[in-house]
Amino acid sequence: MLIHFRDKMEIGKPEMNIGLDRIYAAESRICKIDGENGRLYYRGYPIDVLAERSNFEEVSYLLVYGKLPSIEELSRFRKELREERNLSSGTINMISQMSKRNAHPMHILSATVASIASEDVDINDRSDGAELRRSVKLIAKMASIVATIGRYIGGEEYQAPDPELPHAANFLYMLTGKSPDSFQAKIIDLMFMLQAEHSTNASTFAALVTSSTLADMYMSISSGINALSGVLHGGADEAALKMMKSIGKPENANEYIENALASKQKIMGFGHRVYKAYDPRAKILRKYMEELEGHSNPDSKTLTEIALEIERIMAAKKLGEAKGIWPNIDFFTGPVYTAVGMPGYLFTPVFAASRISGWCAHIIEYRKNNRLIRPLEYYSGEIGIEYVPIEKR
Ligand SMILES: CC(C)(COP(=O)(O)OP(=O)(O)OC[C@H]1O[C@@H](n2cnc3c(N)ncnc32)[C@H](O)[C@@H]1OP(=O)(O)O)[C@@H](O)C(=O)NCCC(=O)NCCS
Repeated sequence: MLIHFRDKMEIGKPEMNIGLDRIYAAESRICKIDGENGRLYYRGYPIDVLAERSNFEEVSYLLVYGKLPSIEELSRFRKELREERNLSSGTINMISQMSKRNAHPMHILSATVASIASEDVDINDRSDGAELRRSVKLIAKMASIVATIGRYIGGEEYQAPDPELPHAANFLYMLTGKSPDSFQAKIIDLMFMLQAEHSTNASTFAALVTSSTLADMYMSISSGINALSGVLHGGADEAALKMMKSIGKPENANEYIENALASKQKIMGFGHRVYKAYDPRAKILRKYMEELEGHSNPDSKTLTEIALEIERIMAAKKLGEAKGIWPNIDFFTGPVYTAVGMPGYLFTPVFAASRISGWCAHIIEYRKNNRLIRPLEYYSGEIGIEYVPIEKR
C-alpha cells in the first residue's frame, strides 16, 4: 500500500537517511568502489593497473566512451584534445580580471567554465555526439583554465599551449611556461588518472542533480566544481596541506592530533564515506611520495615526514580498525605536489581538471534514462500558523 507523506506524518516520522549514506540512487557501469576491501575500478579496470600502465588521455577515453581506445582512436582523441586546448581572449580576460580580486581559484574555475557555454554554437544540441564533443572540449579546456588561473595569480600572462606535449605535460607547460621534466609530467599524469573518477561522490552527484533538470553540461559541471570545493570533499587536499604546514615539524604532530581529536575536529585527509579500508589511491600516492627522494625539495621533504608521522599516530590509535578511518588520497597530495612546485591553492582546481572526465561520463550515462533527481525532506515545523500583520508582531 502506498503511504502518502500526509499519512506518514500522522503515523510518525518516516525512516530518514541524512547524507544519503548507503542509498543507491542510480545504476552505472562507470566505476566500482569496493570500500570494504579498498579497491577501485574504472569501467572494470583496477586503478593500480591503470596508474601503472595507462595515461590520463586513455583513462578519459575509457571513462567517457566506455572502452579502451585502439591506437587510431587514441590518436584521434589526443588530436581533438589538442585542438581544444587554447583559450579565447574573452576567457583569458575573465580569468585575468577575477585573479586580481580575492577570489579562490575554485570560484574563478566555476565561473569560467559556466562562461565558456557562450562560445558553444550548438548549445541546444543535446545529442550524444554533441555531448561527447562537449566532453572533449571540457577535458581539454579545464586543464588550460586551471593553468591560466595559476599563471595570473602568480603575476604572469597567458601561456599558449604546446601542441607537441601530452595533456599533463602541456598543463605544466601552460602553468610554468617551461617544458616539464619527465618526472614532473609523470606525477601530474598520475594525479589526473587517480582523481579522474569516483562514482557518485558529492560533486558527481551535484553535477547529476543539475543535469537531471536538463540544464546544459556547462551548468552541470559548474555544479560539480562548486561541490568539489568544500573541505569534506575535494577541498580536503588544500586543507590537509594547510594542516601539515601549521604543524610545521614532525615533533609537533602528536600534540596537534591529540588536541584536534579531543575537540572532535576532523583530521583533514583521513576518513571516507565509502572506504572503510585503506584508500587504494592513497596507497599508490604514498608509494610515489616515498620515492620522491632526489626529486624533492626541502619543503616537500618536511611535509613527507609530517605526513608519515601523522599517519603513524593515527594508526597507533587504531582508528582504522575501530571506525574505518584511514588516509584518503587528499592526505598525500601536499608532499607530492609540493615536490613538483604546485601551489596549495591549485590542488583542488587540478582535482577538478582531473574529475572532469568522470563528471562528463556520468552526465552522458545518466541522460540515457534521465529522471529528475528530487528526494524528500521530512517537514518537522508547524503548519497552518495564523499570519499576523507586521505592525502587530
Ligand atoms: C570524508 C568524511 C566527511 C566522511 O565522513 P562520514 O562518512 O560522514 O563520517 P562521519 O563524519 O559521520 O564520521 C564517523 C565517525 O568517524 C569520525 N571521523 C571521520 N573522519 C574523521 C577524521 N578525518 N578525523 C577524525 N575523526 C573522523 C567522526 O568524528 C565520527 O566519529 P563518532 O562516531 O565518534 O562521532 C569524513 O571522514 C571527513 O570529514 N574527513 C576529513 C575530510 C576529508 O579528508 N575529506 C576527503 C574525503 S576523500
